[in-house]
Amino acid sequence: MNHLQRVQKILSEIGISSRRKAEELIREGRVTVNGRIAQIGDRADPLQDRIKVDGRGVSASSPKVYILLNKPRGTVTTTDDPAGRKTVMDLLRIKKPRLFPVGRLDYDAEGLLLLTNDGELAHGLSHPSFRIPRTYQVKVKGKPTPEEIHKLRGGIHLEDGRTSPCQIFPLRETEENLWLEMVLYEGRNRQVKRMWERLGYPVLKLKRVGFAGLALGRLKPGDSRALDPREVQKLKERQGASKEKGMDPHEVFKKGGPRFHQPEGRPENLKIRPEAGGLWHARRG
Ligand code: URA
Repeated sequence: MNHLQRVQKILSEIGISSRRKAEELIREGRVTVNGRIAQIGDRADPLQDRIKVDGRGVSASSPKVYILLNKPRGTVTTTDDPAGRKTVMDLLRIKKPRLFPVGRLDYDAEGLLLLTNDGELAHGLSHPSFRIPRTYQVKVKGKPTPEEIHKLRGGIHLEDGRTSPCQIFPLRETEENLWLEMVLYEGRNRQVKRMWERLGYPVLKLKRVGFAGLALGRLKPGDSRALDPREVQKLKERQGASKEKGMDPHEVFKKGGPRFHQPEGRPENLKIRPEAGGLWHARRG
């Protein structure tokens, strides 16, 4: 009996990378099947054929591993940095099986980063159509007005298209800056920074505190922990549910927005209250 499958599917199922990343590896000529360089669309039998990435054989037998890391500022979200900077992989205690970050955080950003060798799950959690929530705490230079915050919530035009509606509410302010919490349902490159830059408010600090229902909690920067089986199960269910019927943020926003939604990962001691008009404001003093 043959088990022919597309090579990129095999690589993602084994947990070598997400499916998109596997396609990149194939395009870059880094994947061979029985000694021949694989092409996109090639099929192979994972049980019979010898598949290698960068000359190293891949095996279907690795157990699935799920790690939650608090990425510190000053680390790159890649498995290998040609510029020799510290990568998130340098922070992990386990070196095998090979893990891959799900999505990315900028060099100067910190917070929750999931790493896994479960390619299918990584694919599901990264794909924009699944609208996985990502919660950020953001410090911006200056004081955006309630109208500007409202505008950003509804979506604005960036170079790569209009942003999906998101949730934003102020947390606290200093004399010159404002801290806000944002829940985005897409993960474009430098999205938070670009959204605020567009309105003239540079982002000074950025921390991801929630992702796909996972919360950063009290994990210190640089520390990591394995997900417990219930968390893994929930992630899989969320991914399945998102695939089938994903919430449409445009619809939610049209209906008045999920203003009182309790986003994942918000520290319990923050004092916030809804003002008349529906915007969230930090309570002073
Ligand atoms: N948005 C950004 O601008 N940077 C990140 O690292 C994550 C989201």
